[in-house]
Amino acid sequence: SMVVIEEFLDGPEVSVFGVCDGADVVLLRPAPDFKRAYDGDRGPNTGGMGAYCPYPLASRDFEALPGAVFEPVLAELASRGARYAGVLYAGLILTADGPKVLEFNARFGDPETQAVLPRLRSDAYELLAAAARPDGGGLAGVELDFDDNWAVTLVLASAGYPAAPSTGDVICGLADAAREGVEVTHAGTARREDGAIVTAGGRVLNVTALGPTPAAARDAAYAAAAKIGFAGRQLRSDIALRAVGATRA
Ligand code: GLY
Repeated sequence: SMVVIEEFLDGPEVSVFGVCDGADVVLLRPAPDFKRAYDGDRGPNTGGMGAYCPYPLASRDFEALPGAVFEPVLAELASRGARYAGVLYAGLILTADGPKVLEFNARFGDPETQAVLPRLRSDAYELLAAAARPDGGGLAGVELDFDDNWAVTLVLASAGYPAAPSTGDVICGLADAAREGVEVTHAGTARREDGAIVTAGGRVLNVTALGPTPAAARDAAYAAAAKIGFAGRQLRSDIALRAVGATRA
């Protein structure tokens, strides 16, 4: 048998998505997610109960990421004949020695994407089309424009999630939640034959709000989420609280 000893990475976890064209990478803004089911990062692990963007990563650390984290992966893949065009998701731990990679995924992250993309002012279609150009090279020199507003995303999960998610519970208040600066994204929902929208999975809805400060975005997201009801609805009450505290300090 073999024992694998790994370095213990201590620090906050942040997701950074790099859009790659095989050689070049353009980074979207960092966003942490909240993996545990209950407030205070307690309870079972989930797919993610909320996110916010941007995370105030030191600009020196952020600017080092393409060369230190993304480009070596792209170069190694290309050298193996597997040119990678698409989203490379780096899960980073921000240690006292700087960001360290915990994991890579070949996809966007959920629910971070719901907080990251509403702040992208550049055209997302053009960005992805440039990444997918068959001859490569579409992202050379591309710079992205981002909204100054903060984004906070809350996940509304079904009763019993994550162990045994309840399905078929009628969801009300969706129209009331819709307002300027708020996006409600459906994840685990279905339309019943009579037209009612019902729960159909563990993480049911995402409510994302934009605001000029973390507190404003957070308050707007919680106000919109409060309009939406279904039996046993689960919603953490401390999403982005650290961001509010950090900017007030
Ligand atoms: N937010 C975690 C993931 O998408 O894997």
